[in-house]
Amino acid sequence: MRTSLTKVLAVGFVAALVASGCGSERRESGSTAPEKGFAADALIGVALPSKTSENWVLAGDLFTNGLKDAGFQSDVQYAGASTTVADQQAQITAMITKGAKVIVIGATDAAQLSTQVAQAKQSGAVVVAYDRLITNTPDVDYYIAFDNFKVGQLQGQALLDGMKSRKATGPWTVELFSGSPDDNNSGVFFNGAMDVLKPLIDRGEVVVGSGQTDVKQTATQGWKAENAQSRMDSLLNSTYAGDKTLDGVLSPNDTLARAIITSIKGAGKPIPIVTGQDSEVESVKSIMAGEQYSTINKDTRKLVAETVNMVKTLQAGNQPTVNDTKSYDNGVKVVPAYLLPPIIVTKANAAEAYADDPKLSPLTK
Ligand code: BGC
Repeated sequence: MRTSLTKVLAVGFVAALVASGCGSERRESGSTAPEKGFAADALIGVALPSKTSENWVLAGDLFTNGLKDAGFQSDVQYAGASTTVADQQAQITAMITKGAKVIVIGATDAAQLSTQVAQAKQSGAVVVAYDRLITNTPDVDYYIAFDNFKVGQLQGQALLDGMKSRKATGPWTVELFSGSPDDNNSGVFFNGAMDVLKPLIDRGEVVVGSGQTDVKQTATQGWKAENAQSRMDSLLNSTYAGDKTLDGVLSPNDTLARAIITSIKGAGKPIPIVTGQDSEVESVKSIMAGEQYSTINKDTRKLVAETVNMVKTLQAGNQPTVNDTKSYDNGVKVVPAYLLPPIIVTKANAAEAYADDPKLSPLTK
């Protein structure tokens, strides 16, 4: 119970920050499949954020091929590197104009798409939030993602396990990083990790050296490596001068983990336990080399395949399967979600975790 309440609050994080006056209408999830379905070769729009991590790069090709194999036409777009919000808004509008029947969106900014998704609904399209929830709007029909709260819990637990493997008892000194504040997932990952870490912080067993425990203080704008690296640089200067020990760093993903490790190496300090997410090639190599401690396997192939299945179900005029109808309150409605289980990966289980991944498996031999 406590967990699901935390999760609901977590999901409201971005919405609460961005939208002060939202939430007068609150609906439970409702039926949103077009009753008669739509043409088997209809256009499906896929609007992805900029390529801030390898999973997004993979997703684009997988969607193009998966939708084609399923008989659909597709329009797969990425937001640009700098004008991300305006790019994505324009791309979604263009998809609506072209008559897309389903629009799958990996939001670049969770709270900046309400106008576009309202237009999509008016045009009769189904809106599916992919990986990242879209907040502050009634016009999102489904959410499909890995269980992001669980991702955060696994990261928090990996941080503790890693530190314990080096020093059996605390106190352990750590620093906390979170993702971009405009991505709803950032607060969810962070709150999942804090669900595990906070009791230890409260007991003094885990000490956040800088005292920066608030998600706003720990944020990494744009999920950019250089922002995490410079925050780590300044933490090292301000808090870890001399031989002050740093036992662990909570990093929300692999790109940021490697930037944090670069900073720490640059300062000539031993590499602490550093968590990650995404199973990026360079991070799997780093884990096998004993540098980064952990990552999360969220197999993009599976998430895209499940999303294409959802599109096929909608095409046939049926209701897609969901397995969570209570956790993802976007500030206006509870969005019915289909969640896949994430897997924690360390050097110890990497070979097993990536056994069926032809790209990652050879790295674990
Ligand atoms: C995704 C992560 C990814 C991050 C940065 C998040 O929304 O869930 O897998 O690392 O965005 O791209």
